Amino acid sequence: MNVYDGERMAELMAEQGLTPAEANEADLVVLNTCHIREKATEKVYSDIGRLRKHGRTPMIAVAGCVAQAEGEEIVRRAGVDVVVGPQAYHNLPKLVADAASGKAALDTDMPLDSKFGALPARKRVSPSAFLTVQEGCDKFCTYCVVPYTRGAEVSRPFAAVIDEAKALVDAGAREITLLGQNVNAWSGEDGRGLDALIRELDRIEGLARIRYTTSHPNDMTQGLIDAHGEVEKLMPFLHLPVQSGNDRVLKAMNRSHTRDSYLRILDRVREARPDIALSGDFIVGFPGETDAEFEDTLSLVDQVRHAQAFSFKYSPRPGTPAAEMDGALPAAVMDERLQRLQAALNRDQAAFNADTVGRTCDVLIERKGKLPGQMLGKSPWLQSVHLMTDAAIGDMVTVEIVSAGPNSLGGVERVRAAA
Ligand code: 5AD
Ligand code: SF4
Repeated sequence: MNVYDGERMAELMAEQGLTPAEANEADLVVLNTCHIREKATEKVYSDIGRLRKHGRTPMIAVAGCVAQAEGEEIVRRAGVDVVVGPQAYHNLPKLVADAASGKAALDTDMPLDSKFGALPARKRVSPSAFLTVQEGCDKFCTYCVVPYTRGAEVSRPFAAVIDEAKALVDAGAREITLLGQNVNAWSGEDGRGLDALIRELDRIEGLARIRYTTSHPNDMTQGLIDAHGEVEKLMPFLHLPVQSGNDRVLKAMNRSHTRDSYLRILDRVREARPDIALSGDFIVGFPGETDAEFEDTLSLVDQVRHAQAFSFKYSPRPGTPAAEMDGALPAAVMDERLQRLQAALNRDQAAFNADTVGRTCDVLIERKGKLPGQMLGKSPWLQSVHLMTDAAIGDMVTVEIVSAGPNSLGGVERVRAAA
């Protein structure tokens, strides 16, 4: 979502006549920040320090969730010029103008009127484009800052989403990834769910692929599961965070699903779409997590065999209930658990990639590769594929997968469909 927000901010500033520049030559640098773990937050301050090292100091704007969470504290601590939260960035041009005339420029409001109406139309986008349809979170997992920084769950109206999707396709998108902190909690004005939105997007001519991320197990409706079996443009990929394989830990995290209910959802998804690639998020070292409880996470991984996944060491976040919990684990224990988990996840990712060798599939060409004549694209299962081809960016190419590495595949072109 930060990539999407960053693109929208760049478009806004382009309307003001600004053009992109390297950070050491720019007049304005916007840092679009993440507050999810401590490391991400601290990076903002080191980036600010680095920008000032060049002697000539640009105007610095801090956007994103660190701006939302820390507000004036960033001005006090780092003396930046503009602070703008994720729900207020449509005001960025005005804030920059205020800062330029020496006025205070801070906006962390979460207005009821959505920022989206105030953003310029999309003109040129890459073949794989993002589209925010839902923001915020009401789930309040005990470790997570998102409900505080991004606010309550809000869905964009059905028609607004469809209009933006059509504009994206007109601007060059062939694949759209619907975004939301809880994208499958999206609900239309009439109560229809994400599956209805996907079925409407399916009708847009020129749009070849639909994806969505990120989801919560509790919002995985039967309608959405059915869509995976029925909507051809909906790609066979599901990112469904689980966080832990142990019920006591899941309860302490306030996840409101169990190990078993999660596994049963995956069974139903696999029934609807047998070739689906599964992805997830994991946290190791939640306060009080015992060795045996961590083993449950490993055994869940063994059972699911994810195509890819993200895993993190628990990071206490100010203001969240888990930050007050007893049972903090030593760094060495967290490190060891993360290493073991990642070894298992890497093993499964490599196996999934190896399994695609010999298959023929569509690849959407997204950019040039390192070698002359080489292009890079994505398989339906979200793997990077490199191949030699004279196809252009945005073309859909039929490819036979001939080799697999841990992080990408190699393919040979078979037939090309015109863009
Ligand atoms: N510590 C570690 N990981 C976290 N995540 C969210 N909050 C924390 C935290 N405090 C992870 C979860 C979530 C992903 C986006 O980030 O796995 O799904
Ligand atoms: Fe955070 Fe996701 Fe839980 Fe919401 S559902 S509180 S965004 S981890």
